[in-house]
Amino acid sequence: MIKKRMQDAMNDQIQHEMASAYLYLAMAADFHAKGLDGMAQWMKVQTQEEMVHAMRFFAHIDERNGRVELKALMAPQKEWTSPLAAFEAAYKHEQFITGRIDELAKIAREENDNAALMMLQWFVNEQIEEEANVSKVIDLLKLVGDSGQGLLMADRELGARVFVPPPAGAAAAGTPV
Ligand code: FEO
Repeated sequence: MIKKRMQDAMNDQIQHEMASAYLYLAMAADFHAKGLDGMAQWMKVQTQEEMVHAMRFFAHIDERNGRVELKALMAPQKEWTSPLAAFEAAYKHEQFITGRIDELAKIAREENDNAALMMLQWFVNEQIEEEANVSKVIDLLKLVGDSGQGLLMADRELGARVFVPPPAGAAAAGTPV
């Protein structure tokens, strides 16, 4: 059975992952409003990934006979001054999430919770990818600069992103994907 300290920390993490989904969905709405449908698509895929992250914590708590407790979500920011500003905010947010995963791993070590540690290893790797994905888009947008044509090309490229659902049962504790 999961200990209360770990359960509380993972319930907080569900909130962080759902807030991430909400943030990226808000960015998608802002991109759609500005006619940047490719970037909106990129953010909608990101939103789906965050939901998968939240469900991994949900499954882990549940499978270890714990109690999932959902918390309130704040309304996200509605508008960003430019695509670069939005992706820079996303990058900063992912760095915050990486810090939360590191904190969870620290708690797991302190509580000698090896099941949580194994499950969290997936997230340690995932956060490397999460930061790298956003960072690549920032590099692209910096190259594009103020070029309208470049921005349209970048929008087309980012719109090719598709959501790949995890294999059935992958949300279970420690299941590598
Ligand atoms: Fe769930 Fe983007 O970290």
